[in-house]
Amino acid sequence: MTYSLDSIVAWAKRRAFAFPWSDIYGWLANAWDLGPYGAQLRKNILDAWWKHFVQERQDMVGLDASILMNPKVWEASGHVSSFSDPLVDCRKCKYRDRADKLIEDHIAKNKLTLDEIKDKIWADSLTPEAWTFDQQTAFLSEFKVKCPKCGSCDWTEPKKFNLMFKTQQWVIDWEWKDIYLRPETAQWIFVNFKNILDTTRMRIPFWVAQVGKSFRNEITPGNFLFRVREFEQMEIEFFCENDEKKWLEWLQNWKDTCEAWWIEKIWINKDKLRFREHDPKELAFYSKWTWDVEYLFPWGWWELQWIAYRTDYDLQQHMKFSWRDMQYTDPMTGARYVPHCIEPSWGLTRAVLTAMIDAYDEEEYTNGNWEKETRTVAHFHKNIAPIKFAILPLVKKDEKQVEIAEKIFHDLSKDYFCEYDDNGAIGKRYRRQDEIWTPFCITVDQQSCEDWETVTIRDRDTMEQKRIKISEIADYIN
Ligand code: GAP
Repeated sequence: MTYSLDSIVAWAKRRAFAFPWSDIYGWLANAWDLGPYGAQLRKNILDAWWKHFVQERQDMVGLDASILMNPKVWEASGHVSSFSDPLVDCRKCKYRDRADKLIEDHIAKNKLTLDEIKDKIWADSLTPEAWTFDQQTAFLSEFKVKCPKCGSCDWTEPKKFNLMFKTQQWVIDWEWKDIYLRPETAQWIFVNFKNILDTTRMRIPFWVAQVGKSFRNEITPGNFLFRVREFEQMEIEFFCENDEKKWLEWLQNWKDTCEAWWIEKIWINKDKLRFREHDPKELAFYSKWTWDVEYLFPWGWWELQWIAYRTDYDLQQHMKFSWRDMQYTDPMTGARYVPHCIEPSWGLTRAVLTAMIDAYDEEEYTNGNWEKETRTVAHFHKNIAPIKFAILPLVKKDEKQVEIAEKIFHDLSKDYFCEYDDNGAIGKRYRRQDEIWTPFCITVDQQSCEDWETVTIRDRDTMEQKRIKISEIADYIN
């Protein structure tokens, strides 16, 4: 079942997963903060990623590098000259958008075929991102693409809009230097390639992981957390030899590994995942081969993650700009070469959004009075559910119940994220936990006070309750 993004956003706001950014000042649309449950969900996804890809492997190391870098890095990487989108303005109402996205939407909405457009604008693909500015201009006018805000068809010519956020760093006296907030985390891995090689036991092939904030001055942020200007990435660079047969094998390997991680660790619905190979004209300027991992969002199939073959482009560029040798010497053969690179790159912010969308459900159930009711639930896997246990004293004024419940919270919270809730009728408290898909609710009641030994434990999937010994809670959930 697919639910509208509006219902998911409403649930996320109501249940403390996300809050609009700087809400009390009412400004900066399409920016979000993660609320208490969203923050925990993010941490659980990040932990699942770090554990699977870094901790459990012998050939992977992690990095934690800074957001601000020497601006030369971005000259070398090509981001200063090429990391841009084609910006157009509506001459009538000043609405701003990306020319390629406007065209893509128009093609999809009107189900245009390549045959229908190629004579008019000499395009040889249905990927407007790969077209020249002249072709995009011709399409906007030939096909009378309307401004989504005012309906006018009067667009300015596309111009290059660089997506990097610029800021200034104080150097000396009143001298300031332009620097950029990083638009991807990957570059630090290339910059530190030699440091890793010289200080660790890593030998090719090996992998380096980095997690952190990235910033892009997106022209059209939107769709909740999908496209935002400040987001987090989890990126891996896999350094390998330049052997076409091998890197084709490694690419396939990465594809399978990534697919399995989404399905088995994050519990994403298999039928809503697919791989799409990039059209050669759509490839990023540094990539020779790219696969998008796409997810079926409420607004269609869109990129969730990507896996790109970056060749030796980045290390070659940094070698050229920094004058530092980035070559690797094979300890067995003595061969010297600049390693090639495969890059699987995840958006952590986008992963949080996807986990919420995938888990969200509105289901019917029969309540204690045999009446049908609908409950909103988010079917998170136990590994990533923000709260693992809710501890609920039945009567909050009963000192004995409170004492037992607090002791259980104290003991369990050493290993699990728990919530103590003594507010409202017990049925309402269960509903609240169902909405965020807490796997277990532990209720302390009168009998617990009499025997000082037992509680009831409620399983969210079956809604069944069992009476078990407090000392057996950990065994029970394991
Ligand atoms: N280092 C390669 C790279 O940055 P990308 O496809 O531009 O490639 C990788 O970004 C991932 O980062 C995307 O698959 C997506 O999950 C996430 N991402 C990119 N731009 C984003 C944005 N504006 N908001 C949220 N996530 C974004």
